[in-house]
Amino acid sequence: MIELAKSHRSIRSYTNQDIDDALLNDLLLAGLRSSSSGNMQTWSVIVTRDEARKRRLYELHGDQEFILEAPVLLTFCADVFRMREWIRVNQSKQSFDDLLGFLTGAVDAVIAAQTICLAAESQGLGICYLGTTWWAAREIIDFLELPKYVFPVTSITVGYPAEDPPLRDRLPLEVMVHREKYQPMSDDEILTRHADRERNAWARYTANEDLRRALEEAGITKVTDFYTSELKYSKELHREISEMLLETLPEQGFWL
Ligand SMILES: Cc1cc2nc3c(=O)[nH]c(=O)nc-3n(C[C@H](O)[C@H](O)[C@H](O)COP(=O)(O)O)c2cc1C
Repeated sequence: MIELAKSHRSIRSYTNQDIDDALLNDLLLAGLRSSSSGNMQTWSVIVTRDEARKRRLYELHGDQEFILEAPVLLTFCADVFRMREWIRVNQSKQSFDDLLGFLTGAVDAVIAAQTICLAAESQGLGICYLGTTWWAAREIIDFLELPKYVFPVTSITVGYPAEDPPLRDRLPLEVMVHREKYQPMSDDEILTRHADRERNAWARYTANEDLRRALEEAGITKVTDFYTSELKYSKELHREISEMLLETLPEQGFWL
């Protein structure tokens, strides 16, 4: 199990081999066993296999090519709708239509997603998460006909790998783990601890000819410049998506 987790790589190229229904069912069953807050299981997953529907989701996820290649796309949702329906039918006191209800469901959904990722990888499948789920949340809600009190949180592509990428670097453990209390780093430590990341990520970006040219044209010389530039996660983009989420969450019933 530890070796499996330590060998994880996101897979962005898939063969045309389909995933057997029984295997997919088993992966979902593994996800079902995940811990969940109060055992309420406030999550759900939408399985997309249909080519035409997958194409539409591919468009909503910003045309990431590997979505078309993957035989299965899973959209994980925070879901307090089902729990609230049970409460309603039993005429119990209603709850969970608030920010905490959303966060509870979102954590449950991500835990289940990661269980399914590990289960899939243990069977020789590859996965890739799609952060664009937040970006296209409103359109995904409409397309998947998510009722009020259900919100998409993350998505994963699943399929048989057609690539064998190297492991991507990670920051050292000491940067991530704090013993007993949080230990902020000095400026010098920050640069030293991120030196490998700076070198590896820059080498990866500039190996792509189109990206190398775009970086040059934008005058970008550091990895952190890139992260907050219009080429990746600019402040403007973050603001725009945050504003959309702050509108969409209440529309879906998650606020005070
Ligand atoms: C929440 C989340 C969202 C992600 N979104 C995308 C995405 O939209 N497209 C993509 O190609 N990779 C995406 N990834 C994959 C990351 O880029 C990848 O995990 C990271 O670069 C580390 O690489 P590795 O998983 O191969 O170790 C996402 C990962 C996470 C956890």
